[in-house]
Amino acid sequence: GLAVAGGAGAVAGAGLQLAASPDQPTPTAPTNTVALGSVGSQTVPFHGARQAGIATPIQRQAHARIAAFDLVPGADAAALRTLLQRWTTAAEALTTGRPAGNRTDTMTADSGPAALTVTVGFGPSLFGTVFPASARPAALAPLPAFGGESLDAARSDGDLGVLVCADDPVVVFSALRTLEQLAAGVATPRWQFAGFTRGRGVTTNEGATVRNLMGQLDGTKNPKPSEATFGKTVFVSADGWMRGGSYLVVRRIRMLLDEWEELPVTAQEQVIGRKKASGAPLSGGVETTPANFGRRGPDGELLIPADSHVRLAAAAFNRGAAMLRRGYSFADPQPGGGVEAGLIFLAWQADPRTGFVPVHQNLIAGKDRLSRFTRHEAGALFAMPGGVTRGEYLGQRLFE
Ligand code: HEM
Repeated sequence: GLAVAGGAGAVAGAGLQLAASPDQPTPTAPTNTVALGSVGSQTVPFHGARQAGIATPIQRQAHARIAAFDLVPGADAAALRTLLQRWTTAAEALTTGRPAGNRTDTMTADSGPAALTVTVGFGPSLFGTVFPASARPAALAPLPAFGGESLDAARSDGDLGVLVCADDPVVVFSALRTLEQLAAGVATPRWQFAGFTRGRGVTTNEGATVRNLMGQLDGTKNPKPSEATFGKTVFVSADGWMRGGSYLVVRRIRMLLDEWEELPVTAQEQVIGRKKASGAPLSGGVETTPANFGRRGPDGELLIPADSHVRLAAAAFNRGAAMLRRGYSFADPQPGGGVEAGLIFLAWQADPRTGFVPVHQNLIAGKDRLSRFTRHEAGALFAMPGGVTRGEYLGQRLFE
């Protein structure tokens, strides 16, 4: 294990004052609370063998923010440990609708937890600095460079990654704000992306696939918790500090919507390999019908084109590589009245070397037709460790 000297002292030296800790009373409950509705009162258990927010039973919360932090110069493993203890205590409170940290406002309590999840992990850059390089799992090697991409370094990578999701955007903002404040003196924000997907209660079938901003059903062929291979695909089963954890690949992918929207729908369907309205594969059937990649039309052409997105991304053509895609749309207003829209692509897997990496390489090598309408702008990789039981803190096994 890793030897960690010191304790809370390393952070106390940074001049932090904390209102909430396990042995102190929680801040006074707000007096103007309203009765919570069916959305606000939802909770996702924070404790468990796996962190919440990866394969939560709730399909997917409507709002998300993902943020990266860098340790301040001089912060050591002991300071990081104290930070993780604070974040754990805060997440325990916030996910049950109690205020946390030194925030005295009532934002979260008035809304309820709204299915809040807080998922925390480590970037490759923590190893060789705070932790010995030898403690870095092979799966956490920095991702290779991919042909044709130029990622914005200022909005990529980071020592720590935090994904905050809830069905209320105020809860998401407030929770992340709390975590930022608790990090003061130890870690500073590096970048942050905000995203959204279909609102809770909008459809009668909460489990139905959501649409992205290109208008496609996105997530159809995701691994399903009901499948026998789900756990092995998404979560780390090997012994070590990452056991029960998952690797998160983040990508800010901008959509060139002006160009995309000029395409007739039939051409858009050839780009993906599925029907736009129903999500059915172009080989026939309904959304859930397995794609038949060998099937040809009367003209002899493949019904699912050779350079279509689903063919190049399918596990069958990538030696079984698969990942759980759980992204969020973004539509960020720009000065001058424009908007940058796209997908905060979030992909969870047991190992990116048998998940995102070969699939993305195949999409590039095969000249994925979709890539004419997208630009990868920024990216990151985080090792999100397994979950915690009461009394443990996030990432604890990395310090043992
Ligand atoms: C499938 C859209 C980027 C991997 C799909 C589908 C759509 C879609 C509409 C078909 C429905 C489904 O199964 O979900 C997009 C858009 C992207 C994007 C709009 C960028 C803005 C990526 C990237 C990767 C990826 C970067 C991985 C490197 C996959 C995989 C499938 C898929 C593995 C399932 C393929 C299958 O087995 O049928 N995507 N995608 N996608 N996509 Fe993407």
